[in-house]
Amino acid sequence: MIVVLKGGPSPEAEVSRKSAAAVVKALKNLGYEVLDLELDENVAKNLIELKPQKVFIALHGVPGEDGSVQGLLETLRIPYTGCGVESSAICMDKDATKRILKSFGIPVPAGETYFSKKEVDWIEIPCVVKPARTGSTVGISVVKKQEELEKAVELAFKYDTKIIIEEFIEGRELTIPVLNGKALPIVGIIPEGGFYDYEAKYKKHTTKYEVPTQIPEKIAKKIRKLAEKIFHILECKGAVRIDLRLDEMNVPYILEVNTIPGMTERSLLPKSAEAAGITFEELIEEILKG
Ligand code: DAL
Ligand code: MG
Repeated sequence: MIVVLKGGPSPEAEVSRKSAAAVVKALKNLGYEVLDLELDENVAKNLIELKPQKVFIALHGVPGEDGSVQGLLETLRIPYTGCGVESSAICMDKDATKRILKSFGIPVPAGETYFSKKEVDWIEIPCVVKPARTGSTVGISVVKKQEELEKAVELAFKYDTKIIIEEFIEGRELTIPVLNGKALPIVGIIPEGGFYDYEAKYKKHTTKYEVPTQIPEKIAKKIRKLAEKIFHILECKGAVRIDLRLDEMNVPYILEVNTIPGMTERSLLPKSAEAAGITFEELIEEILKG
């Protein structure tokens, strides 16, 4: 039996339950015996009783995408999908991820890390204020005027004890999934208001997607190679989705690595896989096999 883990106390629990529903449906269509399980305080006891052959982790955010649940499953000796403990913990933290990528010579937006509001001094505008460890753009603001900065910093600290403020890269918003080490087509994201936030991701229907994105093949090839390198460096497994911005000089700046990309009907990994001729069910089976 396959157990699909979902929900929990994360701000992304609602998205996770949607991802899980899609995964459960696909696994059933593939002929697996499946049970979906909520991440609550009884999860360890339930898993011990159920003895699944594998756990498909469909959790987003903390806890679940950060290595904590992976650690529990390692302890229980239950195999699971996706990245391991260390890789998950690093990728959940945008600050740690950027520092590692930078040390390998990979371009990331310049920025600073802060642990309290009073550390934040004068910042060059426009900038992006982010909690270090959230997903789905929760708590993130693009700041275009100096007077918006304080509110943005307060919002980010509501979600985390560590925040980053980084330069806003003018250019295109792109994302590229990597499935078991191999890059999939790059998706171009064109949100109506210019900012691909939680509303644009899951509530409104005004964002346009370009799959694959229309950029020169030479640049696309460079991004695909870079994405595969990042997957390798961060010791990822399964399917990850790497978000980036391509500036006007065609330099790809890596923003973050999502180790449990959304699987909802609006999510980008399934769109990209489809463009590569991989059906949703085939994608789920690939992730399950790891
Ligand atoms: N964190 C959301 C679910 C994503 O990356 O797709
Ligand atoms: Mg993310």
